Amino acid sequence: MTGERILIVDDDESMCEFLTIMLEKEGYEVHAVNRGREAIDLAKTNRYHAAMIDIKMPGMDGMTLLGELRTISPGTPVVIMTAFSSEETAIEAVNRGAFYYLVKQAKKDEIRLVIKKALEVGRLQAENRFLKQQLRSRHSSKKIIGKSECFEEVFHLVDRVANCESTILICGESGTGKELVARELHYRSRRADGPFVSINCGALPETLLESELFGHRRGAFTGAVRDKDGLFTVAKGGTFFLDEVAETSPAIQVKLLRVLQEREIIPLGGTKPVKVEMRLIAATNVDLEQRVDEGLFRADLFYRLNVIQIPLPPLRKRRDDVPLLVDFFLQETVKRAHTGPKSVTPEVMDLLVRYDWPGNVRELENVVERAVVLQDGDTIGKEALPPKFQTMGEKPVECNLSGTANVTLEQLERRYLAKVLEEVGWRKKVAADILGIDASTLYRKINRYELAPDRKSEKQPV
Ligand SMILES: Nc1ncnc2c1ncn2[C@@H]1O[C@H](COP(=O)(O)OP(=O)(O)OP(=O)(O)O)[C@@H](O)[C@H]1O
Ligand SMILES: [Mg+2]
Repeated sequence: MTGERILIVDDDESMCEFLTIMLEKEGYEVHAVNRGREAIDLAKTNRYHAAMIDIKMPGMDGMTLLGELRTISPGTPVVIMTAFSSEETAIEAVNRGAFYYLVKQAKKDEIRLVIKKALEVGRLQAENRFLKQQLRSRHSSKKIIGKSECFEEVFHLVDRVANCESTILICGESGTGKELVARELHYRSRRADGPFVSINCGALPETLLESELFGHRRGAFTGAVRDKDGLFTVAKGGTFFLDEVAETSPAIQVKLLRVLQEREIIPLGGTKPVKVEMRLIAATNVDLEQRVDEGLFRADLFYRLNVIQIPLPPLRKRRDDVPLLVDFFLQETVKRAHTGPKSVTPEVMDLLVRYDWPGNVRELENVVERAVVLQDGDTIGKEALPPKFQTMGEKPVECNLSGTANVTLEQLERRYLAKVLEEVGWRKKVAADILGIDASTLYRKINRYELAPDRKSEKQPV
């Protein structure tokens, strides 16, 4: 037995018998009935891996039964059987979702082959559904964290617009969660079962980006040996996430406008437009309106993209969320690293809340992960944070610029370096952090300016 179950529906008893014997020999479990009604009852209680149904039957005909089966058990491929080759009915059946059609006089080999293929397609579709489900639950475990007032606004907007079809523009600095929000919108829309296709416009050279987005016809350029679908076509039925849209060239902007206005594309080297069917979500980490003012971005495209805007606040504008995010990433990292629970000291939490986070949530995520790896115990102290946090609490070095009108920039640099080094007791790593340069640059400058600790004020030579 293969473990696969097949349903046969035919009012002709001898046909049922013939198919049952043949398919049972192949190792399938076969259930055969003569009426559409009985078939529906069976389909409600059994899972069938394939079904073969006669088109002409008294009572409920095959076409109606096909429709019913598609609803009760959408994953079951249905093969339609016709007494004579009637192309029109067969085509209609296929249009209504039948997998294939067979004439009743078909040879045994052909019947076996069609059933084998139907089972294979059913298996692949089930696998595909399973993988999509996995992907969905993986995403849904990617929680969006935030309870500050300005982030509440984001949640509210996401709730309101997830299921509408409008184009959405997500704006925010790098690492604020633009892609996370785009995925959330997709998985909460009715397109969730369709693909989520994403492309970063800043990451590809123009010609490659163009062919990736719109596809190309054979011979469009050297190396285009066959037709290739663009990502806009691949995204059919799903969501297309256009990341860093400000980085597109004027030529691509024109084509994007066409996508939004006409809902069609022309592949590279092609002449005929191809329809596309997807929902567009764009993202930018620059001020797109300013780009428009500067003449760097088409105003008409901006208005088309900016139907609904979701602005994501930078982390420094929602410091209340930092402790929440720290705890969240601590738990996530600890789970991944299979270590015991960890927490941060109040001093560390205070530093993390006060820090400005130019890299936003992504930077915070990395800092927490690094600290978990570096800290052996269950409490994370200041020493597990990157160097820039080590000097955060320290008094800034005051630099008196009076009397500097006649000095060169080099002389000023020498004096400032000496001052900072003295202030931190010649701890060079600390000085480098304050100066915002790496240690090797500082060493070079010390040698170049022939700086040396002033013996009297020397605190802790390194
Ligand atoms: N509110 C949040 N809650 C939980 N995790 C978040 C949040 N915001 C961002 N992240 C996490 O931070 C990282 C960066 O997020 P994402 O890639 O969505 O940012 P982005 O705005 O697209 O950045 P970039 O402009 O650099 O592409 C991801 O790992 C994401 O899961
Ligand atoms: Mg991103």
